[in-house]
Amino acid sequence: MFPRSRFRRLRKSRKFRDLVSESHLDVGDLVYPVFVDENLKEKKEIEEMPGQYTYPIGAELLKLTEEVVDLKIPAIILFGVPSYKDPFGTSAYMKEGVVQKAIKEIKGVSGEDLILIGDLCLCEYTDHGHCGILKNGKVDNDETLKVYGKIAVSLAEAGIDMIAPSGMMDGMVMAIRDALDREGFSEIPIMSYATKYSTVLYTPFRYAAQSAPKFGDRSSYQMDIRNSDEAIREARADIEEGADIVMVKPSFLDIIYRIKKELQFPTATYCVSGEYVMLKCSAKFLDEKRNVMEYHICRKRAGADIIITYYAKELAKWLAE
Ligand code: PBG
Ligand code: ZN
Repeated sequence: MFPRSRFRRLRKSRKFRDLVSESHLDVGDLVYPVFVDENLKEKKEIEEMPGQYTYPIGAELLKLTEEVVDLKIPAIILFGVPSYKDPFGTSAYMKEGVVQKAIKEIKGVSGEDLILIGDLCLCEYTDHGHCGILKNGKVDNDETLKVYGKIAVSLAEAGIDMIAPSGMMDGMVMAIRDALDREGFSEIPIMSYATKYSTVLYTPFRYAAQSAPKFGDRSSYQMDIRNSDEAIREARADIEEGADIVMVKPSFLDIIYRIKKELQFPTATYCVSGEYVMLKCSAKFLDEKRNVMEYHICRKRAGADIIITYYAKELAKWLAE
């Protein structure tokens, strides 16, 4: 107790503070989201996400992945915008699908230098914009699982390093694990969007990915923001089904904290498009670098092992300074 105990002793210099710091933001924990749009001829800034771009397959995309590798960011997560959509999302599992083609091109250049993660969902590929197959106007869980299995195998055949299912269907991890194992892809890990909340914070993403639902919303499959015990049950279920990493999305601190504490499992979090936009807009009023660094360090402090963020490139530069 004071005056024998004094907290300020270990705060007196940068060296002392570094010596005792409990959380570390490391470039090796970052994942950068990348949008590939089959309809584009050249890269295009996303209006709703200043500083972020969608890419056609080709030289600019490869230049981006080289930049990511040079910055020592270990992984990207790929989202595809197809030129063809139908009610069943068939372009999500075509051999020549947009993400399948992108994977092959990027792998040809970056090889082992970059982990390619494939977001697995249907909303970008269905004409109605829902994350699953419709039956009588509603998203049918078990019909959707069959399609998720097909997409997983198709991404694996193209050369993906990890699959990240984001559709919030019950049993999706098991369906994907079974499909992958059946086809000889038992080495490919699954990072499940285990606790994905229904929120306005995905709005900018939906412009970029052209994946907004044409009717209704996603609240019959994504989680209710009022719940936290349910997040634990969701994550536990995914772990039992075979997930290798569980994700918290958006990067709600209390949920990250509980998942890591209660389940002691590799935990990722996604700082989503709406969070990016909030940080970007506030740069007008406070120092962007300090604000963004603090924001991400707080996710580490809460317990996140991996952070998926649109700020990955800036963070990598700041951390190298
Ligand atoms: C697709 C998907 C979404 C995001 C990631 N995967 C959008 C949604 O559920 O509508 C959101 C990511 C972001 O906002 O940055 N299911
Ligand atoms: Zn979706």
